[in-house]
Amino acid sequence: MHYIMEAPPQVTRFDKSVLRKIGHTPLIKLESITRHLAKDVEIYAKAEWHNVGGSVKARPALRMIQEGIREGKLGRGKILLDSTSGNTGVAYAIIGRILGFKVQLVIPANVCKERKGIMASAYNAELILSDPLESSDGAIKLAQEIYRKNPDKFFMPDQYNNPYNWMAHRDTTAKEIWEQTGGRITHFVAGIGTSGTLMGTTRGLKSFNPNILSYAVEPAEALHGLEGLKHMETSIVPGIYDPSVFDEKISIPTEDGYNMVMRIEKEEGIIVGQSSGAALCGALQVAEKIEKGIIITVFPDSCAECNIAHGDFSI
Ligand SMILES: Cc1ncc(COP(=O)(O)O)c(C=O)c1O
Repeated sequence: MHYIMEAPPQVTRFDKSVLRKIGHTPLIKLESITRHLAKDVEIYAKAEWHNVGGSVKARPALRMIQEGIREGKLGRGKILLDSTSGNTGVAYAIIGRILGFKVQLVIPANVCKERKGIMASAYNAELILSDPLESSDGAIKLAQEIYRKNPDKFFMPDQYNNPYNWMAHRDTTAKEIWEQTGGRITHFVAGIGTSGTLMGTTRGLKSFNPNILSYAVEPAEALHGLEGLKHMETSIVPGIYDPSVFDEKISIPTEDGYNMVMRIEKEEGIIVGQSSGAALCGALQVAEKIEKGIIITVFPDSCAECNIAHGDFSI
């Protein structure tokens, strides 16, 4: 089951200098939620909603596109086609407008209408909506089906299987965290969707200091509401996912992730998306077991519109 939302006809290009603003996000110290921890334990969140397009996904999207152009796979009128739960789509759509190529995105129909609006109306991408009951796996399958019928028409970055996804994080996210903490980071905690953030940042950080411990946060349930994250046991496992890269996995129930989103707003004054709530639940579990350490987690986006639309906040 799918239908198509047409992109509006007007296309104005964005300035190329916008691409240089991808990355370089702030590291925010969480001061209130962490009050009960041992005095030498600190948690910081990488504020990825400061990225172009409002999410962590600008980093891998840019790298996969740059490498696609370098390898001659994107260009000569080709359309960028990929499946996404939203954030990568926004990033592709912005970069497409900057560099002047068309973008078609397969997304689960239940992705919030605000995000669909950003991709289609603001950035001109064409949306193909997949069965909401099949979640991100339905979008992956449909994108592959469309690609297979017409491979010459498309460049499919395939963020789940493209090593440039995790390499973007190894070369930018990890480097920034290392520099921003002055090399003091002891633990890294991140949610897994494509797993690019965790795979790349962990590899980068462990190359600086192999003693840094890394934790993967995944939804506790197969049917969950933590947008952007994947329950690996019951999903199509991304080709770039390698469980030997990190040290431990932490499972977070949807409800705990949602409650933490509200606590982050009320106690830290920051509005973040659901996967950030789950990531902080994981970071707190790690923090509560140690007496000393600098824990870094990633807040992938600030999907305030989703949270409000889903009734998690009274505004
Ligand atoms: C909101 C959100 N959080 C977390 C993730 C997971 O990041 P990664 O795909 O790098 O594992 C994604 C990925 O799409 C996302 O959109």
